[in-house]
Amino acid sequence: MSARPTPIIMDCDPGHDDALAILLAAANPAVELLAITTVAGNQTMEKCTLNARRICSVAGITDVPIASGASEPLLGSLHIGEYVHGASGLDGPAWGEPTVPVSAEHAVDLMARLLAEHPEPVTLVPTGPLTNVALLLKTRPELMGKIGEIVLMGGSTERGNDTPYAEFNMKVDPEAADIVFRSGLHVTMVGLNVTHQALAVPEVIERLGGLGTRMGDLCVELLTFFSASYLRTWGFTSPPLHDAVAVARVIDPTLVECIPAPVAIETMGRYTSGATCVDLHHLTGEPDNALVGMKLDAPKFWDLMLEAVASYE
Ligand code: BDR
Ligand code: CA
Repeated sequence: MSARPTPIIMDCDPGHDDALAILLAAANPAVELLAITTVAGNQTMEKCTLNARRICSVAGITDVPIASGASEPLLGSLHIGEYVHGASGLDGPAWGEPTVPVSAEHAVDLMARLLAEHPEPVTLVPTGPLTNVALLLKTRPELMGKIGEIVLMGGSTERGNDTPYAEFNMKVDPEAADIVFRSGLHVTMVGLNVTHQALAVPEVIERLGGLGTRMGDLCVELLTFFSASYLRTWGFTSPPLHDAVAVARVIDPTLVECIPAPVAIETMGRYTSGATCVDLHHLTGEPDNALVGMKLDAPKFWDLMLEAVASYE
């Protein structure tokens, strides 16, 4: 790990796992969280923005700007993840009024300004549909050189979760995902095949509760709701903390083993729209355009997560 923190922007749709990913990003000294931008996905853009403000307010994250972005995918209409994250997008805890404000800037403008201003390349960590990131790449191509890399949660080397073949973030906006994977930028895909190794098993929940803090208890409440959704929808006995794995990969790249591969996004499939076609065996002859997460060091990941949560009151 380098001594200087990696500057990152989180583009997210909180969301239970997005919320814990924010806690990790704001707490860990290996990254400097420059901004949180929101996108419609797990819930409407308004609800996702409110949820980003809620988690930051409770955590006392007051120095990170929050800006809201796209309320619809590039094409078609929004399909939300209410069946996983509930009517608020962050069901479980009783939330008070958020105290941190929302920026007047649009998410894409805030990302562009921070990229232009920052002396070093900035890493983008998208953990929702890729609409904002695709808009940024299309409208501000001169800033591509200021993006160090894109480490995203989305896709899968295996099957999907929102449809049999598509992971939720890719399924919501396949055209945006296509733009990002074809951008020529350094893209790391942290997909379901690796995030399903980050299961919040009972021992993890006990450790969080055992912290004896307000934040530990809040995480238990969030994961309890998330757990019920995962059991009902997919039969998982413990829920996977998808989005925090992308943040963990930036904090400590050794936590997520990756291999280079060509990744294409299905944008036309009648049944497979949003599927990530990951050519693990290089059968297509296409060039590698992504690093694909394959294996998670789960014990180290949870240690990192617990350490982050323990740093809040
Ligand atoms: C992804 O979809 C959302 O439900 C989660 O927040 C995560 O980003 C998992 O498929
Ligand atoms: Ca998410």
